[in-house]
Amino acid sequence: MTYSSAQLIRCEFPAEHVLLLAMNRPPVNAYSDQLARELQLHLETASSDPDVRVVVLSSDVEKGFTAGLDLFATGTLSHKSADAARTALHIRQRCVSAIQACDKPVIAAVHGICFGAGLDLISACDVRLCAEGTVFSIKEVDIGLAADIGSLQRLPRVTSNASLLYELALTARTFGPAEAEKLGLVSRTVTGKGFERVRHEAIELAKVVASKSPVATLSTKHLLNYSREHTVQEGLQYTQAWNMGMVQANDVTAAIQGFTMKKPPVFEPLSEKKAKL
Ligand SMILES: *[C@@H]1O[C@H](CO)[C@@H](O)[C@H](O)[C@H]1NC(C)=O
Ligand SMILES: *[C@@H]1O[C@H](CO)[C@@H](O)[C@H](O)[C@H]1NC(C)=O
Repeated sequence: MTYSSAQLIRCEFPAEHVLLLAMNRPPVNAYSDQLARELQLHLETASSDPDVRVVVLSSDVEKGFTAGLDLFATGTLSHKSADAARTALHIRQRCVSAIQACDKPVIAAVHGICFGAGLDLISACDVRLCAEGTVFSIKEVDIGLAADIGSLQRLPRVTSNASLLYELALTARTFGPAEAEKLGLVSRTVTGKGFERVRHEAIELAKVVASKSPVATLSTKHLLNYSREHTVQEGLQYTQAWNMGMVQANDVTAAIQGFTMKKPPVFEPLSEKKAKL
């Protein structure tokens, strides 16, 4: 598996240890099975690639992040091929889960339209930034469905305004950055409407994360993710066990040395497995 084998995603290392995955399926990045499959494979590769410490998920398409599910793709809405529809649903769910399962933090840089499956995708990301003028919608009720690939499961856990979330999910109405911030969906809105500025900010943020110990950032993602689905007590016990192994990493010494010598610390890669761009 190499990053360059993708057709609908452009892959690039805009900075050391930062992998950019830019969806590129004009005109609107309709979320198709192929797009889902390519995203899933790339996230799985990135998860075990020591050259990658942070992933930025973005779109090269001017119109936006994604208009949501490709309704006209085979299997999506055709009753004739019920099994194809089930398989497709499975593929699309697995892709969203691959974001959450990815050992490396995933930062979403959202611009333009972000509807339906777009919400599923970003709700599985770890940090979300949006551009000015982004239009979001939890669109599924408008096509007579409940959101089916993760929005309804993940959004309540990653946002902080239940009443607003229910309102938006029940009405499918569009909302902008101001409400996305009130909802707790995005951590900030970046000036500029296109993908350039928001992506730039996301990469700058990724660079900061990538400069830290990869053991520390991987563990932090893993433990925050664990805490989301467990009690505080369970989380504490698990963290204790986890850190017993992790504290042995050379990263602690490297970080403290860097601190005392006022030099950026250099951390060893996580493992030897490599993927080619
Ligand atoms: C986050 O939690 C989910 C559900 O327990 C799990 O499938 C996934 O692998 C976890 N991700 C990480 C990075 O630990
Ligand atoms: C939830 O959203 C509403 C409507 O935008 C807002 O007035 C309210 O302050 C928000 N509540 C919290 C707890 O953020």
